[in-house]
Amino acid sequence: MPETFKAILVSRDADKKQSVAVTDLTDADLMEGDVTVAVEATTVNYKDGLAITGKAPVVRRWPLVPGIDFAGTVISSSNPDWRQGDKVILNGWGVGETHFGAYAAHARVKGDWLVPLPQGISAHDAMAVGTAGYTAMLSVMALERHGILPDRGPVVVTGAAGGVGSVAVSILSSLGYHVIASTGRNAESPYLINLGAAEVISRDELNQPAKPLAKERWAGGIDSVGSHTLANVLSMTSYGGAVAACGLAGGMDLPSSVAPFILRGVSLLGIDSVMAPKAVRLEAWRRIGSDLDLQKLAGLSRTIGFDGIIDAARDIVEGKIRGRVVVDM
Ligand SMILES: NC(=O)c1ccc[n+]([C@@H]2O[C@H](COP(=O)([O-])OP(=O)(O)OC[C@H]3O[C@@H](n4cnc5c(N)ncnc54)[C@H](OP(=O)(O)O)[C@@H]3O)[C@@H](O)[C@H]2O)c1
Repeated sequence: MPETFKAILVSRDADKKQSVAVTDLTDADLMEGDVTVAVEATTVNYKDGLAITGKAPVVRRWPLVPGIDFAGTVISSSNPDWRQGDKVILNGWGVGETHFGAYAAHARVKGDWLVPLPQGISAHDAMAVGTAGYTAMLSVMALERHGILPDRGPVVVTGAAGGVGSVAVSILSSLGYHVIASTGRNAESPYLINLGAAEVISRDELNQPAKPLAKERWAGGIDSVGSHTLANVLSMTSYGGAVAACGLAGGMDLPSSVAPFILRGVSLLGIDSVMAPKAVRLEAWRRIGSDLDLQKLAGLSRTIGFDGIIDAARDIVEGKIRGRVVVDM
C-alpha cells in the first residue's frame, strides 16, 4: 500500500459552491513536477485565508491543496539543481492557486520554483517570515532602489500589525528607518513599538477619502491595505518620495488623483511576490538572512499545527491575526 498523508483539499460542487475538508492523499495524487519535498513548515497568509474561505477567487483549479508557501527537505528530485536532503523554500508561482500547495505533508513542484533555505535560518523561521515577510523585504528593496534610505525621513507602514506590516516594521527599524506604523488595533501599539516602530498612528487617520495633496508626513511607505489608505499615503508623501504598494486588505480600488505624481514627483512602486524572478527572490532571502532580527521574528509569530490551519485561515480574513502564523507540519 502506498504511504498516505493528510492534506487540506478545497473542492467545488456543480453549483460552484466551494467547500474545504481534510483528506488522505498519496504521492500519486500530487501534480506534475520534478522535485518532491517533505513539507516541514508552512504558514497562513492572507491569500491562503481567501483561498480556504472562498472569499476571493484565489483558487482557480478544483480540487486543490491550498497553501502558497512552504519550507522543507527534498525527498526526491530529477532536477539537476536539487538533491535528496536539500533544504528549500517555495513562495508563489501559482502554488496553492493552480498547483497543489503546502497544506499536505508532501508537495511536488518544479525545481525552478525553489530557492535554498538561507544559512542559519530554520524551516520554522523561514515560514515565520513566509510570503508576507518576503513581500515586505521586496518592498524594502524597492524603496532602497528608489533612493528612499533612512536619511530621507520617516516611512509609514500600513496594516502594520498584520504579517507583511509586522515584518516590514521590523526590517525597516533594523535598517535604521524612523518607522510610523499605522494600525486599526490600538491595543497592538506596544507590540509595534517592540518591533521597532518609532510612532504608532490610527488607521482612522488614513481610511477616509483622500485630498489630492495633504501635508507631507513621510518620505515613503509600504502599503498592504490599498483603497483610501493608499490614496492618503500617496497624498502625504513628501517631494520625490515613493510608496511600495503590495496589498489590498482594505480594498482593491485606488481612489486617488495624479496630483502626488505630477506635483510632488512621488512614485508608486508595484510589488508582486508570486512571479518575481529567481534572482530577485534569492536576493530577498539573502537579505532576510542578514537584515531580519530573529529574536524579533520569534516575537511576531506564533505556531500552530496542521489541525489549526482552517480556523487560522478564517481568522486572517477577518483581520484577527497578529503578525505571522507558522504551521509546524
Ligand atoms: N503583492 C504580493 O505579492 C503580496 C504578497 C503577500 C501579501 N500580499 C497582500 O498583502 C496584504 C497583507 O497580507 P498579510 O499576509 O500581511 O495579511 P494580514 O496578516 O491579514 O494583514 C493585513 C492587515 O491589514 C490591516 N487591515 C485589514 N483589513 C483592513 C481594512 N478593512 N482597512 C484597513 N486595514 C485593514 C490589518 O492591520 P492592522 O490591524 O494593523 O490595521 C491587518 O492585520 C493582503 O492584501 C495580501 O493579499 C500581497
